Amino acid sequence: MKKSFLLSLFLFFTLIVSACSSNSSTEEKPEGNNEEGGGDTSAPLDIFSWWTGAGEEDGLKALLALFEEKYPDVPIENAAVAGGAGTNAKAVLASRMQGDDPPATFQVHGGAELNEGWVAAGKMETLNDFYEAEGLNDKFPQDLIDMVSKDGDIYSVPVNIHRGNVLWYNKKVFEDNGLEAPTTFDEFFEVADALKAKGITPLALGDKEPWTATHLYETVLLGVLGTEDYGKLWTGELAFDDAKVVEATETFKKMLSYINDDHSSRNWQDASQLVANGEAAMNVMGDWAKGYLVNDLKLAVNEDFGYVPTPGTEGLFMVITDTFGLPKGVDNPEGVKKFLSVLASVGGQDAFNPLKGSIPARVDADVTKYDQYGKDTMVDFKAAKLAPSLAHGSAASEGFLTKVNQNINIFVTQQNTDQFTKEMISAAAELK
Ligand code: GAL
Repeated sequence: MKKSFLLSLFLFFTLIVSACSSNSSTEEKPEGNNEEGGGDTSAPLDIFSWWTGAGEEDGLKALLALFEEKYPDVPIENAAVAGGAGTNAKAVLASRMQGDDPPATFQVHGGAELNEGWVAAGKMETLNDFYEAEGLNDKFPQDLIDMVSKDGDIYSVPVNIHRGNVLWYNKKVFEDNGLEAPTTFDEFFEVADALKAKGITPLALGDKEPWTATHLYETVLLGVLGTEDYGKLWTGELAFDDAKVVEATETFKKMLSYINDDHSSRNWQDASQLVANGEAAMNVMGDWAKGYLVNDLKLAVNEDFGYVPTPGTEGLFMVITDTFGLPKGVDNPEGVKKFLSVLASVGGQDAFNPLKGSIPARVDADVTKYDQYGKDTMVDFKAAKLAPSLAHGSAASEGFLTKVNQNINIFVTQQNTDQFTKEMISAAAELK
């Protein structure tokens, strides 16, 4: 009896001790598992973008290195999918999001791509508290915060501001031929004729990925229409058969008569190369091209190449902003917030942007870290009238953009303005 009592007492204490220890394992949140906000704080962060290879990845790599230095315990993985302007990445992202397998965080353009896309689909967490906690509300221009907000809630953090309406030109080719960089369409065509007469390709295009032609077209729209009417295209207030829009299409068509024959087998880097080596004189591309020209081709700003706003767009700024947010249902939301906080910091922005070709989204970044192009662009941005890019997701929904890319691609080959105008009117049914 005494023996069995002692045995029961022993078993009782064993049970209590094991219960206590299993209790403590949930309450004390052992390292690597769970924090405020839930999730697994040891889960690796897959950082999703389309920044791979030439001219694209240097800024990202610098940002990832800075993160690893600050948070050596949070594993990260560069999950970039190659293809300019997200040609392939956007499709991969869409299937992951639909399959409830979101990346920890992903590159998304401020504007419609974020707000009418992933936010409207209910896939993103709000970041109002994050902005508050990190003191970010006055660290970005209000225009940019508006681009990453919907119905008063903030959904992502801008890492940069790219300018889309830049005409890059080969300095030597221009000097050798006694030419000045054009600022109007008339000047553009004069210069283009002079170059053509010398056997130099006036304008480089690489529309193997059709978005580059859309990119050129939107700069022509902006140059002909100005910011107000350009903006009305995306609200449906200005129709694609309006006389000024048709004039822009005709101007675009005329520009196409000055491009390289092999445009459809080149990508944007290959087109920049033509300007770099003097085979072509000019190229219209966003300022990620500067990252490529400087980092990869080792050319010097204002020595080997120059830059001016595309024809008719002096004082106007086609804004492209790459941003990152917090998708719903990720494994390690606290880790993602750490990444966003590095990306949002002065150090993060100044590690990324001088290499990427963009200017910092933050208003208080260190100007001395940027070359003359960056400094000029920061000044221009403050004074300019801003226009959202269509080709880079800000102006209108992804569904509309897909149709525009298809129409432009056909137009570049067939050059039928009436047909193109009709197709654009039918695509515009997608606009709200
Ligand atoms: C844009 C993006 C830029 C750059 C470019 C070319 O859409 O905003 O950061 O990567 O595509 O791929």
